[in-house]
Amino acid sequence: MKKIGILTRDCSGINTAIRAVVRTACHYNMEILGIRRGYEGLVNGELVKLDRLSVSGILNRGGTILKTARSKKFRTEAGQEQAVQTLKENNIEGLIVVGGNGSMTAAHILASKYNIPTIGVPATIDNDISDVELTIGADTAVNVAVEALDKIRDTSTSLERIFVVEVMGRDCGYIALQVALAGGCEEVIIPEKDFDVGKICEEISEGNKKGKISWIVIVAEGRAKADDVAKTIVLTTGLETRVVVLGYILRGGSPTAMDRILAARLGSHAVEVLRSGETDKCVCLKGNQPDTVPLEKAIQPKQIEIEAYYRLIKILT
Ligand code: F6P
Repeated sequence: MKKIGILTRDCSGINTAIRAVVRTACHYNMEILGIRRGYEGLVNGELVKLDRLSVSGILNRGGTILKTARSKKFRTEAGQEQAVQTLKENNIEGLIVVGGNGSMTAAHILASKYNIPTIGVPATIDNDISDVELTIGADTAVNVAVEALDKIRDTSTSLERIFVVEVMGRDCGYIALQVALAGGCEEVIIPEKDFDVGKICEEISEGNKKGKISWIVIVAEGRAKADDVAKTIVLTTGLETRVVVLGYILRGGSPTAMDRILAARLGSHAVEVLRSGETDKCVCLKGNQPDTVPLEKAIQPKQIEIEAYYRLIKILT
């Protein structure tokens, strides 16, 4: 394989992965083209030549130097054919896609429907790729959220207030559960589990009667809006409640050492796997060793240990 392409989504650690992919490709004297603006750029033919020098100084930078975008065009057959045309016209023999569930789904289409040798590198703060223990970006997101929570806890305790903190996670409660456990939060609301705000209010009122003075409730954005939860708490308990929406600050910033190491290992492994002739796979670590999982499996809904987390959060708070 002489020439490959790379396209990405956006989260911390993706630049580190781009660097690893490019430098491993250069190590094997392969040419590498960056596809700008994700699948939209693939459809439109927005390509840039990458080499060892073009990825220097990016290892610790958040975001993606390639830029990214959602692509309505790629959702259509015509758009997909146009994307394949871009690859063929530019003699790109294999593709590496760095991103989350949506990116992996599109990668699977290219590999299985159009026979394009394609390897995925899992990178999303949601950590929602099946059979992949940890995706690039998730560790940074959790660490950023926990740093913010520690600050919020100071005010919550000093002013004896309740805080409702909204974190990202449209379909997946991974960040919310991790953050609740790491931040010692009392309640957590996630997309995968029904919740009863009345019960949460009851627990707060009962605890308050016994002298408990501060609470932090974590809400994953896909399940409820922090504002609505806070309003109900105020109306039911009469206790002073404030809202913090952490949102996009979880997705950017300098990656943690753990994310850099993961991105370096998975990015490099993706090139090795592509070279060896494999396709339609997503790279991952298994037992801390580089491995792969079929993309078809990786894009299935991920099962997380919800009940065990809830139990622990309740025991510990
Ligand atoms: O996939 C990660 C994620 O951060 C989700 O938790 C969130 O809902 C989504 O991206 C929002 O992304 P965008 O604004 O790019 O659609």
